[in-house]
Amino acid sequence: MSSTPVGLKLTLVAMPGGGKSTVGRHLARQLGVDCLDSDSEIEKRIGMPIREFFEREGEDAFRDIESEVIAELLAREQDMVLATGGGAVLREVNREAMKARSTVFYLRSSPEELFRRLRHDTQRPLLQVRDPLKKLRELYAQRDPLYRRTAHYVLETGRPSVHALCNMVLMQL
Ligand code: S3P
Repeated sequence: MSSTPVGLKLTLVAMPGGGKSTVGRHLARQLGVDCLDSDSEIEKRIGMPIREFFEREGEDAFRDIESEVIAELLAREQDMVLATGGGAVLREVNREAMKARSTVFYLRSSPEELFRRLRHDTQRPLLQVRDPLKKLRELYAQRDPLYRRTAHYVLETGRPSVHALCNMVLMQL
């Protein structure tokens, strides 16, 4: 796949509930570029909700499609803000593509804050467990180093407004 010269390509990585899609939409609007969302693109491709696909085909099959979609989206010759799924950093090929082809921002939140935001969620397959906070802590321990390794900038999000978060990103450009 040929690589595209980056005009303005921003990728957002974070844990589930980290604000990637919401911040991505606002940022893209402010910058006047398209907001692409790898999970939405995957759902278009598989023709069903991700949760259902996970149940039917398993996580590895999902990760294969996720890697294809991320590579394709980043190769597009257009300016964009790309919001990724929380597990996109698990595969080295994705981490390398994101870092090489875009400016990557990690929106960091603590597992406790993520739990506060996601405690009523029913759509995220990995969190449909008896103790979602414990699961978030485990995912965080595994993924936080990967997000940091992938990102050019780490933004400590805590509980700021979406507007404040967008400004934090814009200040780095
Ligand atoms: C996943 C996060 C989800 C989605 C899929 C797997 C993960 O995206 O890609 O359910 O592994 O953390 P969000 O981060 O938007 O929830």
